[in-house]
Amino acid sequence: MSNNTSVNSRWSSNFAYILAATGAAVGLGNIWKFPYIMGENGGGAFVLVYLLCILFIGIPVMMAEVYIGKQGRSTPANAVAKVAQQNGRSKNWAFIGAMGVLAGFLVLSFYIVIAGWAVAYVFKSVAGDVTAAGGDAQQIGELFSALTSDPKQLLAWSTLVIVGTVVVLANGVTKGLERVVRWLMPALFVLLVVIMLYAAVTGDFAAAVSFMFSPDFSKLTINGVLMALGHAFFTLSLSSGIMMIYGAYLPEGTSIARTSIYIAIADTVVALMAGLAIYPIVFANGIEPSAGPGLLFVSLPIAFGTMPLGGIVSTMFFTMVVVAAFTSALALLESSAAYLVERRGLRRNVAAIVAGSGVWLLSLGTIGSFAGWDFAQINAGAMGHNFFEILDYLTANILLPLGGLFITIFVGWVIQADSLKHHMGLDSKTFQMFSKSVKFISPIAIAVVFLNAIGWLSI
Ligand code: PHE
Ligand code: NA
Repeated sequence: MSNNTSVNSRWSSNFAYILAATGAAVGLGNIWKFPYIMGENGGGAFVLVYLLCILFIGIPVMMAEVYIGKQGRSTPANAVAKVAQQNGRSKNWAFIGAMGVLAGFLVLSFYIVIAGWAVAYVFKSVAGDVTAAGGDAQQIGELFSALTSDPKQLLAWSTLVIVGTVVVLANGVTKGLERVVRWLMPALFVLLVVIMLYAAVTGDFAAAVSFMFSPDFSKLTINGVLMALGHAFFTLSLSSGIMMIYGAYLPEGTSIARTSIYIAIADTVVALMAGLAIYPIVFANGIEPSAGPGLLFVSLPIAFGTMPLGGIVSTMFFTMVVVAAFTSALALLESSAAYLVERRGLRRNVAAIVAGSGVWLLSLGTIGSFAGWDFAQINAGAMGHNFFEILDYLTANILLPLGGLFITIFVGWVIQADSLKHHMGLDSKTFQMFSKSVKFISPIAIAVVFLNAIGWLSI
């Protein structure tokens, strides 16, 4: 086999890698999705299960993926194949990489639509529309439904997002991306603290804290457990080839364990802060925690409409959501584009355009879901009632956990433990914990949750 699939670039430092991986991880999953699915699933118990999934499954899977990337030094499918062959196994395990690419492609098709909402809100903030409502919940709700029911607006904003993603990716991103993320992450953090404090003072902080942190297990269904598990994968950008690609660029001396823990902590902190910014306002204003995908867009504008300099804070906040989403969108498109380069021999910029066009086309299904187009209204029972809901369910709750299952089986059972131990450079105790997770805890937990939820779906 020729070596033209090897990647030779390396991150300039550990810190550069942590920034890029954190940029891919922190995105709409934290700020938009986590708060609303937590609300749909009753709060505290969901949060607890989610945190356990991050700790016992997410971090070990991330380590496994980074390891495969670093060891294979190739794009995902080839990296898995190479590692398999190094261990005397079939290169057919490459399907794990391909599955991730598919998942990433599907995710991106709705991700750009939601990112488009955030772009629209930047403009609405500047124009004063967000604050004009003066914090009136009903008016703010109308502003949001006017956006989501208008296919022309949805299409325009999401097209802007995908075009931007393609353009940046086609030009090779790492330098610019590193620079943006270096400033964005701390800024996002500071802004979230400010909004959170304001929400705490003006909203019902006590209710928010008790909703998020006192678990009531009677509110958690098996489907809720599957959603917590799936979201742990989604939010850490797992099972999508991303961490394998990023791992392929890892310098020799980097600790896979330590960096994975940092990335997971950063991601988790942002998600919890988003919840603590949104829920005090939700409870103080009689918004339903189960309001769904619009939650972020109908809760925070209430605070922006009443706080001093609200228009500026609102503009800054949604700008940061856009940038956070954009760094994740780049990672998602990278996964498909790299695949086209590798498998179809396309040039990088052509691959970015082809993948981006496919994503754009598929995004029409999500746009139609919100705009009420007939073809996008599909009843799939517990999986959802329109194209967007089904796609979201299929990716986060089925493809990503399934990918994680295969990755843990591959790393835990297929490749040789001594080689793994040697190459991961872990001390014995950490390796023991890692090994227990990928051999037993993760595959068993995923399989059990999965099978139960499928029974619950009755398919
Ligand atoms: N982790 C990103 C988020 O939380 C989404 C994502 C998923 C990005 C998969 C890359 C790969 O928004
Ligand atoms: Na995330």
